[in-house]
Amino acid sequence: MNLMPFMDWNDQLSVSVEALDADHKQLIEIVNELYDRILDNSTRDLLDGTFERLAKYTQIHFAHEEEFFELTHYPDTDSHRRKHEEMTSWVLETQRKLKSGELPAPPMQVALYLKQWLLHHIIGTDNKYKAHLNESGIY
Ligand SMILES: [Fe+2]
Ligand SMILES: [Fe+2]
Repeated sequence: MNLMPFMDWNDQLSVSVEALDADHKQLIEIVNELYDRILDNSTRDLLDGTFERLAKYTQIHFAHEEEFFELTHYPDTDSHRRKHEEMTSWVLETQRKLKSGELPAPPMQVALYLKQWLLHHIIGTDNKYKAHLNESGIY
């Protein structure tokens, strides 16, 4: 049992839009679940199940952000969408590898990569839409 979560949401991660903060919290929870299952040496089925949730929820969340971009004519839409597409490809490819057992990196490295990507994306990329969405009346 570990007392410290692998990832933790804090105010610095807020993008000032309630629904999108809620999505990010949910994604962090799924990454924590993945980490816990890796630590517990869970069965492949359990790992697959968590990854399935991750794949679904990243799609839901990316679509959610992109809807707001379209609605508000966010100028940085194309480059932001490209980052989402790259991550989607990585998630789907990793999920495929996980299922077929050909994962080149230990699962923990997969969890660490996800954590880094998510933090980096929220702080470095999502943060940029904050002012624009708020100015467009989206909180
Ligand atoms: Fe996001
Ligand atoms: Fe994003």
